[in-house]
Formats: sequence, structure tokens, C-alpha cells
Amino acid sequence: MYEVLIIKGGKPLNGTIEVNGAKNAALPIMAASLLADSPITIRRVPNISDVRIMARLLRTIGAKVTFRNGNMKIDPRDVKNVRASYKLVSKIHASFDITGPLLARFKQVEVPLPGGCNLGSRPVNFHIEGFRSLGADVDFQHGYVIAKTARLKGTNIFFPKPSVGATKNVMMAATMASGTTIIENAAREPEVADLANFLIRMGAKIRGAGTSKITIEGVKGLSGGFEYSIISDRIEAGTYLLAGAASKGDITLKAIKPEFLDSFISKLKDAGQKIDMGEDWISIKGRPVKAIDISTSPFPGFPTDLHPPVAALLCIADGTSVIEETIFDGRFIYLDELRRLGAEVNTKNHSVVIRGVKKLSGAPVVAPDIRAGGALIIAGLSAEGCTVISGLDKIDRGYQDIDKRLAILGSDIRREKRDACRD
Ligand code: EPZ
Repeated sequence: MYEVLIIKGGKPLNGTIEVNGAKNAALPIMAASLLADSPITIRRVPNISDVRIMARLLRTIGAKVTFRNGNMKIDPRDVKNVRASYKLVSKIHASFDITGPLLARFKQVEVPLPGGCNLGSRPVNFHIEGFRSLGADVDFQHGYVIAKTARLKGTNIFFPKPSVGATKNVMMAATMASGTTIIENAAREPEVADLANFLIRMGAKIRGAGTSKITIEGVKGLSGGFEYSIISDRIEAGTYLLAGAASKGDITLKAIKPEFLDSFISKLKDAGQKIDMGEDWISIKGRPVKAIDISTSPFPGFPTDLHPPVAALLCIADGTSVIEETIFDGRFIYLDELRRLGAEVNTKNHSVVIRGVKKLSGAPVVAPDIRAGGALIIAGLSAEGCTVISGLDKIDRGYQDIDKRLAILGSDIRREKRDACRD
């Protein structure tokens, strides 16, 4: 058996929903809990498969993890096993986030090279070079990264380009190094700042997170014994705003800070959409879509994770749009699926060229990764007729209850079980 989403396009979304906690903050914060000497409760954790897999991974190395109604309690006191399971790490890229904390706490760690969304090459060389700069010996054996050190020593680290994962991993490792570590050309994403705030609650001494220069003064130990609420998911928020635009609806998102999406919002306005916002809410009224040009870049630039979703909207723009993808060379995998819906899309070097059409038409499509799945839902909401989306295991990795929430906003969408033998 497998599940599909069935969307009957053309119904405008209307109403208000609250944005969930951020997947890309929850995952590193779960990993960072391994540094504590006592239990920690994390609130607003999204109930998505990546989080459930990370929880299983933490349990396999000895942590006690309970997760109910968005509240996760992690007790790291019995963690001993510093060798992570191949099967679990190969499922999500972010599982590599446990490397820094385990190296800091146990001075050794064995983690398989990570898997996850197929967005082209996703090396971890910046992470490894960062650990080596901190004084760890790092080898590769049978697909495992094996890092060992007598003690981590603070140092200056410069990343050749901003890397969210490497910034998080090296920052976590440096919290208990002896001396001061300065990370230059650090990633500035809000999820990096949220992780730093969590580590500071644990007793870490970190300055500058959210800027391109982060200073970490090593401390002897880090403690738990508190509750922490993670930030909202700006990529989920962007996806819903695009759904509102594509369906020519009128929706409001609560519990989201507009400054997390400045460049994205400015592009939505250039595309003719009517946006209003307050301190922690954003609303959109869908308008006829104008063609625009976008180039993805690290925060605060246009997020690569909203490239496929915004492309789905631009398929029905009046004119030709170009999206240059500067982060992941494998991001274009979603284009074949948009073509099945009648989109006129082509690639040129690292860009996608989208010639707007009047209407997309519903068809069966398959989600190849999380954000491509978001794009197909957005396209289905605007398409004429029925779109049947399979590959929900990818969509459910990053979007909690997306069908239920879109139905609350008035979309004609339902999840159905299918029998593969009967197809
Ligand atoms: C994080 O991935 C996010 N995942 C991704 O979101 C997001 O697309 C990406 O950041 C960029 O914003 C999580 O936070 C769990 P990077 P990450 O290291 O950390 C290259 C989603 O859908 N690079 O910032 O893996 C890399 O190839 C996911 O939620 C190296 O060359 O991204 C890429 O070109 C998909 N060597 C660029 O840097 C390294 O050691 C940015 O990657 C590390 C990265």
C-alpha cells in the first residue's frame, strides 16, 4: 500500500493557520541536547518523519527521547554508544549534526556519511576540515567518518562558502573546546541563531550567531534542566504563502516573523501579490502573477528551499521568469513533474527558464524530494482538474499535516491509500 494526495484545483484558499516549528532548527537542537548533563524539553517540535528518524537515531546511541504533541524530552545521560546506525543516518542528511556534539562530549565519534534529499552532491568536507582545525583526527573507513581527539582546542575557522550544516556542527563541537573559536563566513540562517540560543541556554558562550562571524569560548560542561521553544519554519511559511497566491486566495499565517523571509516577500510583491505583515504574522491576497527573475543565495538571500515552490507559481505568470540556482546542482529534478502538469520549463546552465502559461492541467505526478513535493502541491492547487501526487514519504519529511491544513484553508485535497498491486 502507498498514499497519494488528490487535489482538485481552482479553489481559493482562505483563512488563518499557525506556522509550525522549524524542521531545520529542531534537528540540530535535538543533536545539541547530547551535550547536556541532564534532560531538556524542546517545545514546538514539528511531527514530521525527519524528526521521528532523528529521535530514533538518538535512542540507538542511548538517549531517552519522548515526543508528544510537539513537546520532546531528551535525556542524554545514558548516551554511551558513539557509533551511529548506518541505516538511520542514510535516511536524513541532518543526522550528521550529531557528529559535533558527540566529538565534543566523548572525544570520539563514528558516523556514516549522510544521505537525505537527492539535491546533487552534498559533501561534508567543510565539517571535516572544521573538526580537524579543532584538533581532531578524522578518517574514513567503510563509509563511516571516524573522528577522535585527546581534546578539542579553539582556533580560527574560515568556510570557503557559507554552509548551514558545517556552521552548526563546528559551533556545537567548539562549545567545549579549550579556548576560543572564531568561525568566519558562517551561515547566517535563523536556524543557526536558534541553535546558538539553545546552546547559550545550556551554558555555552557564543557571540555573533546569525552574522557571518561567530565567536565561541569553550566551557567545561553544558547543562540541561530547562524548556526551549524553537522558531517557526520559514520554508513551511513560504510554501503556504505561495499556495495562497497560486489559488488566488486570501490567507494569513500566524507565529512567523516576516524578517525571516525578507527577500522572498520582496520577490512575491514583485510578482504582483498583495502582502501585509505585522510583528509575527504575514498575509497574502493572490493577484494575477507577474514574471520575475530570482537568484537563490544563502540567508538573507532568496532561500534555495523555496526555489521549486516559487517555480510552481511562476508557471502561471504572465511572461517568462528565470530562477538561477546557486546552492544545489541537483535542485532541478522537479521540472519533469511540473512538465506533466503542462508547465513550459527548461534549464539553461544553472538556471530554470519558465514560460508562463494560462493554466496548468491536473495529472499524476511523483514528489522526488521535500521541496519539489511542496511545488507539486502548489501547482495542483492552481491546475484545472485533479492532480494525484505520490511520493508522500518525501513530503511528510518536511511538512506536518499539509493536506489537513490546506483542507482547513478550503482546498479540495485528500489523502488516500492506494494498493500498488492494483494500479
Ligand atoms: C541545510 O542543508 C538545510 N537542511 C537544507 O534544507 C537547505 O537547503 C540548505 O541548508 C541551504 O540552505 C537542514 O538544515 C537540515 P549547506 P545543508 O551546508 O546544511 C556545499 C530542506 O529541504 N557544502 O548550507 O546540507 C553544499 O553542497 C533542506 O529542508 C560543501 O561543499 O546545506 C551546498 O552547495 C534541503 N561542503 C552549499 O555548501 C560542506 O561540507 C550549502 O550547503 C557542506 C556544504
